[in-house]
Amino acid sequence: MTVAGFPIWQQLIQERIEQALGSYLPAADSPPVRLHQAMRYVTLGGGKRVRPLLCHAAGEIFGAPLAALDQIASAVEMIHVYSLVHDDLPAMDNDVLRRGKPTCHVQFDEATALLVGDALQSLAFHIAAQSIPNVTAERQLDMLALLANAAGSRGMAGGQAIDLAATGQSLEIVELEFMHVQKTGQLIQAATLLGAHVGGAHPDELHNLGRFANRIGLLFQVIDDILDAEASTDALGKTAGKDAAANKATYLTLLGSKPARAFADRLCMEAHEALSSFGDNALRLHQLTDYIVVRKN
Ligand code: IPE
Ligand code: IPE
Ligand code: MG
Ligand code: MG
Ligand code: MG
Repeated sequence: MTVAGFPIWQQLIQERIEQALGSYLPAADSPPVRLHQAMRYVTLGGGKRVRPLLCHAAGEIFGAPLAALDQIASAVEMIHVYSLVHDDLPAMDNDVLRRGKPTCHVQFDEATALLVGDALQSLAFHIAAQSIPNVTAERQLDMLALLANAAGSRGMAGGQAIDLAATGQSLEIVELEFMHVQKTGQLIQAATLLGAHVGGAHPDELHNLGRFANRIGLLFQVIDDILDAEASTDALGKTAGKDAAANKATYLTLLGSKPARAFADRLCMEAHEALSSFGDNALRLHQLTDYIVVRKN
């Protein structure tokens, strides 16, 4: 059997996710129209869909059904999109450009951007709570708790709080790592583990995937910080150079560019190693790991 190349697989999953998200989101002409338009505006037609790709890649190891993976991947992507909408608000990073378009509060208004985040988070849990073929109710409760934890004050929201509090401060390396793992790593880890759950993964398999995802979660934000400093606004689809301008604590400010890249390379290697027990079945996760490092946006 020939296996499709990574770009073909990536595009296939991205198209499936676009379709799934479009069908889960309320129609743009259903009231409240402005809120529903804004939810569709921020969610559809952009983004790399890294979390859904991870969900699919992890699920594929265990032969999980694609439609079930689309469901749980859509829930994770909605939490992620909500986090971006709030991250861009004036009270947080005050960004005007996201995924190559004006940010939600610029295109609509701040109140709408707050509500878009609220509604996307609720919709995400609604989707994740729908029955999933072959997943027991007991396992699904674990999955819901995993997603809630990754999004909450010990996950993404907590990491964002630390990010804001650390602005203008110089953090120790362990503090910086903790912040990155919380604000970005937890949801990336949840995406991976949820895909594996859909495929019926056993506890030891979840444990190994958790170690893998911890490394790529941190790696993802280290590369995000590097790109913020080194890529163009055009390439990123979001304003470049924002971290330095806002005096954010990042691996670049703490280590400098070259050591930050070297750290990323080490994380990448550790991620690959953590997949060793899965053999060839983890092909897509290996490819995604490399993609996270070489991506241009
Ligand atoms: C950006 O995430 C915010 C971080 C957590 C670093 P992505 O780089 O995944 O953004 P999109 O989804 O592709 O727009
Ligand atoms: C955001 O980190 C992480 C989130 C939870 C959204 P950043 O603030 O670095 O993300 P970008 O660079 O604006 O996408
Ligand atoms: Mg931020
Ligand atoms: Mg930001
Ligand atoms: Mg950034």
